[in-house]
Amino acid sequence: MALVNEHYLKLKAGYLFPEIARRVQAFTKANPGAEIIRLGIGDVTQPLPPAVIKSLHLAADEMARPETFRGYGPEQGYQFLLDLIIANDYEARGVNLESDEIFVSDGSKCDSGNIQEIFAVDNLIAVADPAYPVYVDTNVMAGRTGKADDKGRYHGLYYMPCTEANDFLPELPSRKVDIIYLCFPNNPTGVVARREVLQTWVDYARQNQAVILFDAAYEAYITDEQIPHSIYEIQGAKECAIEFRSFSKTAGFTGTRCAYTVVPKGLMASTTSGEAVSLNKLWNRRHTTKFNGVSYPVQVAAAAVYSDEGKAQVRNLIDYYMENARIIRQTLSALGFTVYGGRNAPYIWMKTSDGMSSWEFFDHLLANAHVVGTPGSGFGPSGEGYFRLSAFGTREKTEEAVERIRDRISP
Ligand code: MLT
Repeated sequence: MALVNEHYLKLKAGYLFPEIARRVQAFTKANPGAEIIRLGIGDVTQPLPPAVIKSLHLAADEMARPETFRGYGPEQGYQFLLDLIIANDYEARGVNLESDEIFVSDGSKCDSGNIQEIFAVDNLIAVADPAYPVYVDTNVMAGRTGKADDKGRYHGLYYMPCTEANDFLPELPSRKVDIIYLCFPNNPTGVVARREVLQTWVDYARQNQAVILFDAAYEAYITDEQIPHSIYEIQGAKECAIEFRSFSKTAGFTGTRCAYTVVPKGLMASTTSGEAVSLNKLWNRRHTTKFNGVSYPVQVAAAAVYSDEGKAQVRNLIDYYMENARIIRQTLSALGFTVYGGRNAPYIWMKTSDGMSSWEFFDHLLANAHVVGTPGSGFGPSGEGYFRLSAFGTREKTEEAVERIRDRISP
């Protein structure tokens, strides 16, 4: 009989979001009349911006004509999109990148999950706790950990607890780690990192020859002008950091799929014998072996995000979700709930009522208000006692959700 990858058996039974969906489905089956409001998974609800749709249609028409039809494109992305990314997302912020440092892909979930493949199994990995579950789970799958303890902490990972005491900001590791996952604006807590904070991480990484895996999927939600949008705005970061960016939350591409990852050419890691190897070359090797590129119409659609029209429409989308975030944050806080985030991020991180566990609060909210959120403990043991609400709902549902919470749930 074929043997399985036993590291998978160390994982919790289900990935967080399918597990939530399973519980909601069971509840709906038992309560068919209940009108559920979903503020759980961070999935957008507003349609793609008109400029994006227009380009998508035009590109689809190109695919219908023999003279403009396209087959395989460059695995790393079409030049027209790479140029726009460089000019708008980086040069506009004083960062110079070359197009072969950018890899267009179908999502930051895949990239932030797959990136660990280019690193040795015996690296010590540092993860914030709580964190987007993909960082931990993919390292478990790859065999970089032992089993989880009763709190859900995997042996062999270095956890950086993010609690009220440290304003939910991970602290520099007290021992040498090799790879550090950072996410700002943070999923799930919604906190952001100031320039000085990011500089301490870049300095740490350079001193310890560590690599930072910087997830910036929510950068478009930064409203405070002092907060960097990219790790490369920090001096020295090109020597120590990989960055993940996505069109999903920025421009409503969760179902359309387009993202990109930046791996600077100056970023090196080492073989066991001490030879320096370019991570850009390794990622390129992996990308071209395992991925055939994002479809042409989707890349044309992504390019439209950078047109004047597209930029204005994307700004409106983000403002729409940020108004939802304000409604949730202000209402819950006025009701006496303790809430964080929601100012530079589309997530609100709240304390559960009455010292309930995160899953108890999930069930309580679902049963009494028919509102779905995400249990904080699903993001790591330090998320226990917290709960995440997403600002990606429609305005109407968001307002109704907070009304139901006001009427039916006490802080
Ligand atoms: C979340 O809810 O944390 C995100 O939607 C998950 C994702 O982007 O994959």
